[in-house]
Amino acid sequence: MIEFKNVSYHYGKEKEKTTALKNIGLAVNEGEFVAILGPNGSGKSTLARHMNGLLIPSQGEVLVDGLSTRESGVLWHIHQQVGMVFQNPDNQIIATSVEDDIAFGPENLGLDPKEIRERVDEALEIVGMQSYARHEPHMLSGGQKQRVAVAGALAMRPKYLVVDEATSMLDPRASSSMLESLKRLNKDYGITVVNITHIPDEAVLADRVLILFEGRIVKDGPPQEVFLDLNELREVGVGAPKARQIAEELIASGINLPRSILTIDELVSDLC
Ligand SMILES: Nc1ncnc2c1ncn2[C@@H]1O[C@H](COP(=O)(O)OP(=O)(O)O)[C@@H](O)[C@H]1O
Ligand SMILES: [Mg+2]
Repeated sequence: MIEFKNVSYHYGKEKEKTTALKNIGLAVNEGEFVAILGPNGSGKSTLARHMNGLLIPSQGEVLVDGLSTRESGVLWHIHQQVGMVFQNPDNQIIATSVEDDIAFGPENLGLDPKEIRERVDEALEIVGMQSYARHEPHMLSGGQKQRVAVAGALAMRPKYLVVDEATSMLDPRASSSMLESLKRLNKDYGITVVNITHIPDEAVLADRVLILFEGRIVKDGPPQEVFLDLNELREVGVGAPKARQIAEELIASGINLPRSILTIDELVSDLC
C-alpha cells in the first residue's frame, strides 16, 4: 500500500511559497488500477513524485508498504518498489541502445549479468519491443520510447508503477496501445498502477478515479460514480468522457439512457 497521511507540500519559501498539495490523505491498495485526474497545475505531478520519495512532504508522511519516504535509508528500496514513467519520453533515455537503457536500473542494483539479461528480455517482451533490443532509442517513435521507459521501470520488478501523463506526447493510437499495456501489467502481472492524466477518457479505464483540484482530493471512487455529476466536475476544471457527454445530451433531448455510460462501446450498445 502507498499511503499519504496529511501530506502538504510547498515549493519555494516565504513570500514565493506555492502550496501544491494540501493535507492529502490517500491509500493506494495493492492490485488497484487508479487514475488521478485533474486540470493543469492541480498538483498531479507533485503527488506522483511523493509516491517514490522523489519529493518529501513539507508536512505529513508518505508510507510505502509501511516505510516512510522520510527515512533516507529506505529510499533505495522504495525507488525499486515504485517505478515511475514520465511525460517526456526523450528525457528518460540514458543509453545508446534499447537493451542497455533497460539494463541501467538493474545494473545499479548490482545484480549479476545473467539476472540482468533475464530481466531485460522479460521487460522487452512484456512491452512488445523484443525486436528493438539493439536499436538506438533516439530513432524510435514517441510511443516506442514510452514502451522502453515502461520496460526500464519493469526491469526493477516494481510492485507499483506510477505513470505521469505518459501518453500526453503520443498520437491517439500510441496512447491507446500504451494504456492497453498498462491494463495488462495490472491484470496479468498484478502490478499496482497509478495513471496520472488530465484526460477524462483515459481515467474511465481505471477501477478507481481520484480528482485532484488545487492540491486537494475532491473526489475518489469508481468511474461511474465520479463522472455522474457533470456540473460538479466542471467546477473543478474536469470535463466529461466523450460518451458520457453525448449520453447526457441525449438524455436532455428525451432519450432514455443510463448515466453510467462512460465509453463509446457502452453508448452504442445501450442505443441499440
Ligand atoms: N518546481 C516548482 N517550483 C515552484 N512551483 C512549482 C514547481 N513545480 C510545480 N509548481 C507549482 O505547483 C503546483 C502544482 O504543480 P504540478 O504538481 O506540476 O501540477 P500538475 O502536474 O497537475 O500540472 C502548480 O501551481 C505549479 O505551478
Ligand atoms: Mg504534471
